[in-house]
Amino acid sequence: MLSDLARPVALYVHWPYCRSRCPYCDFNAHVPSDHVDGGRWLRAYEAEIRHGRRVSGPRRLESVFFGGGTPSLMPPEVTQGVLAAASAAWPLADDAEITLEANPSSVEVSRFKAFRDAGVNRVSVGVQALDDDALRMLGRGHTAAEARRAVETAGSTFGRFSFDLIYGRPGHDASSWRAELDDALALAGEHLSCYQLTIERGTPFHVLAAAGRLRLPEESVLLELFDITSDALASACLPRYEVSNHARPGAESRHNLTYWRYGDYVGIGPGAHGRLCTDAGMAGHARIRKPESWLLAVEARGHGTESTEDIPARSAGREMLLMGLRLSEGVSRSAFVERVGLPLDDALRPEALQRAEDAGLMRADRDRIRVTQAGLRVLNALIDDVVA
Ligand SMILES: C[S@@+](CC[C@H](N)C(=O)[O-])C[C@H]1O[C@@H](n2cnc3c(N)ncnc32)[C@H](O)[C@@H]1O
Repeated sequence: MLSDLARPVALYVHWPYCRSRCPYCDFNAHVPSDHVDGGRWLRAYEAEIRHGRRVSGPRRLESVFFGGGTPSLMPPEVTQGVLAAASAAWPLADDAEITLEANPSSVEVSRFKAFRDAGVNRVSVGVQALDDDALRMLGRGHTAAEARRAVETAGSTFGRFSFDLIYGRPGHDASSWRAELDDALALAGEHLSCYQLTIERGTPFHVLAAAGRLRLPEESVLLELFDITSDALASACLPRYEVSNHARPGAESRHNLTYWRYGDYVGIGPGAHGRLCTDAGMAGHARIRKPESWLLAVEARGHGTESTEDIPARSAGREMLLMGLRLSEGVSRSAFVERVGLPLDDALRPEALQRAEDAGLMRADRDRIRVTQAGLRVLNALIDDVVA
């Protein structure tokens, strides 16, 4: 029993609604056509938490992450109710990290205190750009000034905060990105995420790009922007700890580290994913994506699970490498054996690894393997090559 309780778990809560859709976003996000009934949503989340507890068995809850969508649109009473239900299901660690993703609009910022009182202790603000033209291009409903105010309020309200920027936008070049990062660093606390714009299938940006009406910077410029990010943030004592994430050492997002270290997490809400290792083995769980269908399923049978798939050791090994090689710390050999039940070398192509080491793209020693800064620039190709 004690050892079960000692096993950590993370909880992801998906809030699928946004005020409007961003043209680059392919997350499971929807603009509600009707009034969103907070009480109904809370009852459904509570049911999924009870279901998650039945599947996970007793655990220690280390982090909760409210993602979306735009969870800062969630009524704070729902947030509070979810946290009460979660801590009744799994004992909550004293120092549990409880993060909420927030948009910088003034309405949401005015609710920051209510989220803090509900138990949120870390906020991640979707700033995306500190330039009004870029924000318009990205279809955002806020200005750079509003974003600055939101980050400042996040800093004065929550113990911990982060914000997201998107770089590699059409026309983005080294000097404008350097200037924007300087602005960002003047605002930043312990953590900053910088994502390279990706054109996702099914989004308005994909349609524009296919029609030649949206052109991303050349690959060489994107690599330069990546290097500028590494250098500027490392100099500001926020070294990269994951491809797109930078933090003061010790201030990494513990919740996201659970994903990248291939730990266990329960995912509730429309389209949420979870992964749990129990006595029955390792399995991935996915929830129904459409909000209304998810709600109806939860109301009918107590959970909105769409599929549960066993993850055999070889697939687990591959997934653990795909996630872990994104981290600067890489993948520990002992953690790999413990989690997957196979030696790490079984999941690698030895000649490809040797080539990558010779080229300075990877390092392997007795304890762990990891991708170097130079390797992170070509991570996808490297993973294709090295992971068996
Ligand atoms: C779930 S979203 C955050 C949602 C929040 N409603 C917002 O838009 O601010 C998480 C982050 O992923 C990043 N993101 C989403 N789509 C992206 C894309 N196509 N390319 C690059 N970054 C993207 C954005 O920085 C965003 O803040």
